[in-house]
Amino acid sequence: MSATITTASGAKFARILSTGSYRPERIVTNAEICEHIDSTDEWIRDRSGIIERRYAALDETVVDMGAAAAAQALERSGIAPTDIAMVLTANVTHPYPTPSAAAEVAYRIGAVNAGALDIAAACAGFCYGIGIANDLVCGGSAKYAIVIGVEKLSDWTNPKDRGSAFIFADGAGAVVIGPSDTPAIGPTIWGSDGSQKDAITMTQSLIDYRNTGGEIFPALTMQGQQVFRWAVSEMPKVAGRALQAAGVALVDLDAVIPHQANMRITDAIAKALKLPSDIPIARDIAYTGNTSAASIPLAMDRMLAAGEIPSGGTALLIGFGAGLVYAAQVVTLP
Ligand code: UT7
Repeated sequence: MSATITTASGAKFARILSTGSYRPERIVTNAEICEHIDSTDEWIRDRSGIIERRYAALDETVVDMGAAAAAQALERSGIAPTDIAMVLTANVTHPYPTPSAAAEVAYRIGAVNAGALDIAAACAGFCYGIGIANDLVCGGSAKYAIVIGVEKLSDWTNPKDRGSAFIFADGAGAVVIGPSDTPAIGPTIWGSDGSQKDAITMTQSLIDYRNTGGEIFPALTMQGQQVFRWAVSEMPKVAGRALQAAGVALVDLDAVIPHQANMRITDAIAKALKLPSDIPIARDIAYTGNTSAASIPLAMDRMLAAGEIPSGGTALLIGFGAGLVYAAQVVTLP
């Protein structure tokens, strides 16, 4: 006889309750980057929009940064750490395949009742996390969840690689997600294209590095133009689908927060969407660099703190990167 199984039932809606962030102390200028590559401050500003970026200290880890951002988001939410049921850490730079960064972050912030897992969706990881956390809360698997985007890309960047050394940086951003009386996270539009897996990848696997007695530690390598073209042609369509799925008109947005990949990609997305000039679009990359999974929550936290975007306003989030993968959704700002 088949037994009747009680299933979980969750909140009708979920929302972002709070943000937190962590920016490492050390500022790395374009001049410092140009000590290792044949480039100039002017070229880097023109082609990427980056003026400076931040690198974590040598002994500062993905877990340290992720825990700092998560602790701040948690404190601002007023939710007890013991009430968090899931910690999702979006990153690709935690140097241990196991255990996850999330398990250690959960322990550090006192989320001792939480499940924990890492999301390896590169620069789209934070938006994947928002989609998953929304479904956990609405599906009844978690009352409260924390989504963290954190990267220490400086560990996995070859400072001598002219095609990527100036782009990548370190940092962490986090949000607490919980139940809501009103709709506040639209459907997540996501996808992947593994046929373009080589567009952003590692120079070699750690196993190949070990087996061949490699001298140069594996680092990120990017077909910049290929990724640029894909982002500029596909992400405006993904943005349109996320708006349509949420039933929100472009003109009703208070903010667009795309992954901070390159200022020219941000400009191209704004242009393709015909974004009205009075709707702010995140330009955090100028002083933060490209922090992959951390870039959207870092930008959101800074723009809210600076009063550039309103608490309770409506924002479109779009993440895209290695895989190639993407995810986008419309959210109500905390
Ligand atoms: O976050 C994950 C997703 N990542 C991205 O979305 C990154 C997407 N791609 C990009 O942002 C851009 O492709 C880069 C910023 C990485 C590169 O900009 P680009 O405009 O695509 O440069 P390019 O590779 O087409 O190179 C243009 C020129 C070349 O010279 P010639 O052939 O025109 O004489 C390069 O040799 O710029 C030269 N160049 C450089 N010059 C000075 C390439 N890298 C550099 C450099 N400094 N670092």
